[in-house]
Amino acid sequence: MKTITKPRLLASAILLSLASQASAADPAAFSLLQLQRAPSASDVPGLASQLPVLGADVISVPGVARAADQVDPLQTLADQLGYGYRFIAAAPEPDGSTRGQVLLSRVPVQLESGTEQAGQAYLRVADDRHVVAVYAAAENPSQEAVAELVKASRLAAPAVAIGLPAAAVAGWQQENAVASDGFSARSSRKVKVAGLPATLQQFTYAGEAEQERPWMDTSLNADARAGLLLAQMTEDEKFQMLHSYFGLGKDGGPLPEGAVGSAGFVPGVPRLGIPSQQSADAGVGVTNPGGIRPGDFATAMPSGPSTTATWNPELAFAGGATMGREAWQQRFNILLSGSVNLQRDPRNGRNFEYAGEDPLLAGVMVGAVIRGVQSEHVISSMKHFALNDMETRRNFHDVRIGEQAMRESDLLAFEIAIEAGRPGVAMCSYNKINGTYGCENGYLMNEVLKQEWKFPGFVMSDWGGVHSGSKAALAGLDQQSAGEVFDAAVFFDEPLKMAVAAGVVPMARRDDMVLRILRTMILHGNFDNPPQHQPIDVDAGYASAQRTVEEGSVLLRNEGNVLPLDPSVKRIVIIGGHADKGVIGGGGSSMVGVTAKGTNAVPGVMPTTWPGPVIFHPSSPLEALRAARPDAQIDFVSGTDRAAAARAAAAADVAIVFATQWAAESVDLPDMQLPDQQDALIAAVAQANAKTVVVLETNGPVRTPWLNQVPALLQAWYPGIRGGEGIAALLTGQANPSGRLPVTWVTDESQLPRPHIDGLGFNPKKAFNDVFDFDIEGANVGYKWAEANRLKPTFAFGHGLSYTRFEYQNLTVNVDGGRLVASVDIRNAGARAGADVAQLYLKLPAGSQTPIRLIGFDKVTLQPGEQRRIRIEAEPKTLASFDAQVRQWTIAAGTYQVQLSRNAAEPLQTVDVQLTGQVLR
Ligand code: BGC
Repeated sequence: MKTITKPRLLASAILLSLASQASAADPAAFSLLQLQRAPSASDVPGLASQLPVLGADVISVPGVARAADQVDPLQTLADQLGYGYRFIAAAPEPDGSTRGQVLLSRVPVQLESGTEQAGQAYLRVADDRHVVAVYAAAENPSQEAVAELVKASRLAAPAVAIGLPAAAVAGWQQENAVASDGFSARSSRKVKVAGLPATLQQFTYAGEAEQERPWMDTSLNADARAGLLLAQMTEDEKFQMLHSYFGLGKDGGPLPEGAVGSAGFVPGVPRLGIPSQQSADAGVGVTNPGGIRPGDFATAMPSGPSTTATWNPELAFAGGATMGREAWQQRFNILLSGSVNLQRDPRNGRNFEYAGEDPLLAGVMVGAVIRGVQSEHVISSMKHFALNDMETRRNFHDVRIGEQAMRESDLLAFEIAIEAGRPGVAMCSYNKINGTYGCENGYLMNEVLKQEWKFPGFVMSDWGGVHSGSKAALAGLDQQSAGEVFDAAVFFDEPLKMAVAAGVVPMARRDDMVLRILRTMILHGNFDNPPQHQPIDVDAGYASAQRTVEEGSVLLRNEGNVLPLDPSVKRIVIIGGHADKGVIGGGGSSMVGVTAKGTNAVPGVMPTTWPGPVIFHPSSPLEALRAARPDAQIDFVSGTDRAAAARAAAAADVAIVFATQWAAESVDLPDMQLPDQQDALIAAVAQANAKTVVVLETNGPVRTPWLNQVPALLQAWYPGIRGGEGIAALLTGQANPSGRLPVTWVTDESQLPRPHIDGLGFNPKKAFNDVFDFDIEGANVGYKWAEANRLKPTFAFGHGLSYTRFEYQNLTVNVDGGRLVASVDIRNAGARAGADVAQLYLKLPAGSQTPIRLIGFDKVTLQPGEQRRIRIEAEPKTLASFDAQVRQWTIAAGTYQVQLSRNAAEPLQTVDVQLTGQVLR
């Protein structure tokens, strides 16, 4: 009890002092101010001074027109006041402007729904004590749509609904702003704010009934509930929360009691109703290691770069939601998803779990995945924090990198992912960063993550990443993972108890660790919406996976429009890559081995033990292509006999070679070459048939010595359980490619910051020296490195072709303080519907440390002939540099060029802008 009384009194005091000025704020009530019309820019100063006095928790503004190339004055107002801003858009007008509903939130927003564009949204807001669900819509939605929204959010909290039809949901009272049962009374009065007519409503929280378990009162916020719970816990119960067990059992022995079979397990406390923590790996789908949970299977999603190559956050959200839902249906409440380590080198064996090389793109896309997972009452992690960008001797190697460089690269990706996804867990990494292990790194965990970024969740270690008890705890680690199997000791059990008893680790720090875990579990529904074991929706998973393959595969080359396959093409030969059976996937803890269609389609490929087995998901491109083109004769040859493959190619109208490259956790690739002489196979086939198409299923960029001989090249990454179907749809034109590279496709290793690294691959000839000097490129990862060194990669970052053409015109850029908004007309000038990614880059003034940056993007789908004016708002931190002296993001005054580009190396329209020197808030 003690833990909540103080903040509550404090909040009451603040609110009462506001109330004495305006008699609006009441700690026992939620207040909603509804402006009746949108303010003009000239109303903003008046609002800025009066709104704080009124102290409304949430302010709704209807009918806001957001012009394509303008910063919304309400956004500026929100920035000034430190309020949250949310624009819920109705369908865009032809001139690119949008009308919608704005919500300003004085109280912190803890969760929000997936999309701004669907015309409706929900937020979960919480003050220091209560949590409220706020539902709103841009325009009159149907009762069904509202019911769907409410069902989808499943927020167990008192709810307020704005501009929605009353009685859409059982338990809501009918009013203009309807409120749910969690409130006991409502008052409403007309007010004027800065001369604007408005209604101020107050909803009184239903009395906090005396219950046996007051922390189960869903009208209280997660902090308050966690505080109530903590006060009831014994010392042993608290320490029990601080370390997990390996959920697969020790040395092949029995599973820990209560574990369902997965990476991690923390027993619950039945006495207090604290659920156990069951965590599963889910880099690319919910895993079932070795089929330990008979009957459980999951959707094998396309790999991380594929999802990222869609440049479509809504699709990333949908993929995350698929994983979250399937996890919940398999009894998990924590997913070890959210991998956002930057791709600095195509040889990193884990690139297939990550999201490419750019901090903005990676942060936005992985943030969307995390938000998707957590929309299903499952906590998502964000990992591996930080700079675990190579696998070679990952438990030992030291990454050297300066502070500014790391803040503008890898850490920026994490920072943006946190803003976009609000993960409940951060997983610290194995490697050392400037001499200190990730899980003992006070700079990363305490100073950056918890203090600067105000991360309210908990830090969990990677499996085998802990080397100390008190040192790690004081540096910010909150939970040790599976230490009994992977670490030298379970440091967060007896050793930590002793350290706390001796006062080396303060009791308050120990309680902070427990509180962080409890509040995260409560916030994400572990208490109120516990998992229920049930069959997954296989078709829904397939749909989400296939859309990702279709939007995430990248058409890199298409000379003479060989693709899509013309109906006149009647004889096709498919060669290699086990394309008759399935598509390859990456190895290690993220491998989804059990799907609805069975396990490995090609068993026995080496290695068959960790980090293998090499897996082929049962989704055959051959069968899918036959189904898509029943009129054609489609044959398969394995490619093991090059001469036979060439003969078959010569006899066909078109030859399609599938080339694969397996990569896995814990080992880096030795080089960028396709293995098993597949280069020679492609060259032989291309020589036999001028219409040769290559489909790559790889970790990422590989050398392409045969490129000029093949007219078409499709990068399908690791495409997952609907890979065959997705690739067939793209090859036949049922889907129009819209993927764009999230990485620079370097020609070969000579274009990398570290061309030669000793010690990579299985059985390396020379040992590795355990140091990665990332200061070589610093923040200039990928296309920034290429630009700074005037390199000509094979394909630039952002590159990708379509079966239609897009034209851009009339780029305008508006700058207001740290905000930069660009607008441009985009037109589909071809004959097919398709989607393009408008990419906005900033060319920095000569002499800047970084030459160019992606600052924003928008994926747009257009019908043939359709034109639209789109609006892209730059991420402010991409305009700034990190000043390590004062630890602030600073925009340097100067002339910058804003480029609307097809890819990082191909600007289409440019505008020069003046940025004024300033520090970002
Ligand atoms: C990996 C993590 C994974 C964990 C649990 C580690 O080896 O680095 O990504 O979540 O194992 O399986």
